[in-house]
Amino acid sequence: MGAKREVAVGVIGCGMLAQATHLKHLNEIEGARLKWACDVSAAALASVSSRFHPQKTTNDYREVTEDNEVDAIVLATAQEMRLPVIEAAARAGKGVYCEKPMANTLAEMENIRAAVDRSGICFCVGHNRRSAPSMLRARALFLTQRRAPAPCPWRLDRNATLRERWPEEDQAFVIIRINDDLLSWKPWAVTDAMMAGGPMLFEMTHFTDLACWFIESPPLSVVSIGHHRTNHTVVIRFADGSLATILETGVGTFGYPKELYELYANGAAVVLDHFIHIRTGGMEGVPQREFFPLKGDSHLEVSAGGGIRDFYAKRRAAELDAMQAGAPMTALETGPDVDKGHKAHRKAVHRRSAWRGAVALLLRRLDPCHAHRLRGHRKPAERGRGRAVTARAVVNNPSGQ
Ligand SMILES: NC(=O)c1ccc[n+]([C@@H]2O[C@H](COP(=O)([O-])OP(=O)(O)OC[C@H]3O[C@@H](n4cnc5c(N)ncnc54)[C@H](O)[C@@H]3O)[C@@H](O)[C@H]2O)c1
Repeated sequence: MGAKREVAVGVIGCGMLAQATHLKHLNEIEGARLKWACDVSAAALASVSSRFHPQKTTNDYREVTEDNEVDAIVLATAQEMRLPVIEAAARAGKGVYCEKPMANTLAEMENIRAAVDRSGICFCVGHNRRSAPSMLRARALFLTQRRAPAPCPWRLDRNATLRERWPEEDQAFVIIRINDDLLSWKPWAVTDAMMAGGPMLFEMTHFTDLACWFIESPPLSVVSIGHHRTNHTVVIRFADGSLATILETGVGTFGYPKELYELYANGAAVVLDHFIHIRTGGMEGVPQREFFPLKGDSHLEVSAGGGIRDFYAKRRAAELDAMQAGAPMTALETGPDVDKGHKAHRKAVHRRSAWRGAVALLLRRLDPCHAHRLRGHRKPAERGRGRAVTARAVVNNPSGQ
C-alpha cells in the first residue's frame, strides 16, 4: 500500500492534558489532521471545537474507532477508560498513543498487551519525559560514562593494587526526587478510588519508566516505604545490581524546582535539575553545566543568568503576580514552563504501523524521538519478575540517542 500523505487522528478524552498538549500539537504537526474530538463532557467538546476545529465531535468513542478513515487514536481520558478503547482500536488496526498510566491494574495491563500483540498495532504510552531534550542529553552523557567510561585523570584510587574490582563498581545508582504539592492535585486524582493506588497511577509511572530507561537492565525487585498516597520512597533493584531510588513528596512547593535526576556511574555524576539545567562531575571533556531553554516564559524581563537561577527569579515574579491578582492559578499560568517532551514524544506514536504508510511517513519526517512497543519487551525467563514496576517498553530508537 502506498503511503498516504496525511494522518487522520481521533482524540478520545479532551480534558486538561489533551487541550494543553495533544490537540494543540496535532494542529501544529504538518500532515496531521484532527478528524475527531471525543469527550463525554459537552463543555470540553465546545471548548475543543472553538480552539482546535476538529472535523467531527462525538461523545461515543466507538464512532472514532469505527471510522475507517482514522489512522491513529490519542487516548487521553483519565485511566478509568483504557481497555475497551484500546481493544476496539486494535481490532480496527489503528495505532494508539495512550496517556499514562497505561492501566489501572496488572490484569488490565496484561489484557492491553495481549490486544496489542494480537493486532500488531503500534502502541505508545505517554511517558513523554523520555523525549525532553534535556533528558535525552542527560541520558546520553550518563550512558556514555556507563558503557565506555573515560578515565578521570584526577580520580584517586588508594587501593588499586590491594583488591579485585567489586561488582558494585559496575553498577549504576540513580536518584529521582519529586517535590510536589498535593493541594494542586485534581479532584479526580484525590478520590478514595484513585488513592487506592495513589500517585503510582497518575504520576509515578513517569519515574519508574525513566529509571528503567536509564539503567537498561530488567527490574528485579521493588521495595517502598511511606504512605501510598504521598510521601514515599520506592527503591528498584535491577538485574545488574543497579539501584534506582524514587523519592516523592506531596508536601513540597512549586516555589522550588519539581524534579531532580541524579545519575551516578563509574566515578561520575550527571544531574538534571528540572529539565533546564544539567550539572556533571568526574567526566573530563564534557561541560560542567548546560542550560536548556524554558518552554513558556511570561517574564522575559526577568533574568538571573540562566538555568535554575532564572527559574527561581521568574517563578518569584509569577508568585508576586498571583498575590497581586489574588488568584493562585496565576502563579502556574505566568510561571516558567519547562519542556517535558510532550510534543516530540507525540510525534513518535505510530512509526511502526507500516501499512498505514501515512503514519510512518509523518513520523519519519517529524520525529527525532522514540516509539515504544510492548511486544517482546520481556524475555520468557524474565516474565513474572519486576512486575510491580510499570510495563517496561522496548525503546525503538531510530535516532540512536
Ligand atoms: N503525560 C503527562 O505529563 C500527563 C500530564 C497530565 C495528565 N496526564 C494523564 O492524562 C490523562 C488525562 O488527564 P487530564 O488531566 O487531562 O484529566 P481531565 O479530567 O482534565 O480530562 C479527562 C477527560 O476525559 C473525558 N472522559 C472521561 N471518560 C470518557 C469517555 N468514556 N469517553 C470520552 N471522554 C471521556 C472527561 O470528560 C475529561 O474531559 C490521565 O490519564 C493523566 O494521568 C498525563
